[in-house]
Amino acid sequence: MNFKITLLPGDGIGPEVVAEAVRVLDAIASKHGHSFKFTERLMGGCSIDKFGSSLTDETLADCKSADAVLLGAVGGPKWDDPSAKDRPERGLLALRKGLGVFANLRPVKAHSALMEWSPLKPEKLKGVDIMVVRELTGGLYFGWPKGRDVKDGRERAVDTLEYYDYEVKRVMELAFKLAKGRKKKVASVDKANVLESSRLWRQIAAQTGKENPGIELEHVLVDTASMKLITSPASFDVVVTENMFGDILTDEASVLAGSMGMLPSASLGESGAGLFEPVHGSAPDIAGRGIANPIGAILSSAMMLRHSFKLEAEAASIEKAVDDVITSGARTADIGGKLTTRQMTDEIIKRM
Ligand code: IPM
Ligand code: MG
Repeated sequence: MNFKITLLPGDGIGPEVVAEAVRVLDAIASKHGHSFKFTERLMGGCSIDKFGSSLTDETLADCKSADAVLLGAVGGPKWDDPSAKDRPERGLLALRKGLGVFANLRPVKAHSALMEWSPLKPEKLKGVDIMVVRELTGGLYFGWPKGRDVKDGRERAVDTLEYYDYEVKRVMELAFKLAKGRKKKVASVDKANVLESSRLWRQIAAQTGKENPGIELEHVLVDTASMKLITSPASFDVVVTENMFGDILTDEASVLAGSMGMLPSASLGESGAGLFEPVHGSAPDIAGRGIANPIGAILSSAMMLRHSFKLEAEAASIEKAVDDVITSGARTADIGGKLTTRQMTDEIIKRM
């Protein structure tokens, strides 16, 4: 099969890890007789430097016309000025919105060989296998009004947490669909004891729960959820939540895996190109040294094969190779080893 993939390596370690994911995809293509055509574009800080914009119309158009987009990371201290008129993160949010990728899937598994790298006790980590589904194109990140003004002689800042019923419904349905292929449990996370938007969220979660009697639904308040992620992480299967709650909870959940460098993500819409990116950021402190863990990016490309191209066997073969490599003791610096980004990828490709 033939697929067009737009690459957005971005900033910091982004280009280093995307290059390795491409090597893995090339290996899959030659082994299984597929053809992947890659087009590389700038997005984030590098795009601000070159074009004065974190995401140009041309780049967005190239992403929309692709079958999938593979992103490295954006941002870094160079572009951190809060008064700058454009920031790398704005490009990322505009890309998510522009592609209509309303659901962000962030799987978190605790590999038994990496448990010593998590601050949690191994007995808590046993059996941890969570799929967080974060709403990605609504809520506090995008609600209107938003901005600054002066009111009654005081400087004021406003963000709006807004959801339409259909925005909650579509992400909820995806969460339930994912739960069907897993342990058949959905935890819908909200703050319904305080927020009106959460009461709508809960209402739609409950309605979707009724339509899916085979799935066990629980409503969890976000503050309780943040605690349970640490005290009983293995009790979760699919977690579905609002954009901002999901941003916070997924960073918290990432410590269960031992290193953020291991974690992939997939952002999906109704149709069109999906967006795939490792969860780790641009890690400016180690950028350019060739020591970043490529596994987050490599597992993101596996998610691309599964969700955008429907190549389940190929996706599973990458995941199995990564699992075997970790079991075998191969380690990059973030998990206490000496392998370079490229050497870790070589080990994975060898086992595919
Ligand atoms: C993430 C990141 C982004 C977000 C930033 C970089 C805008 O933290 O993907 O979790 O907040 O969504
Ligand atoms: Mg985040």
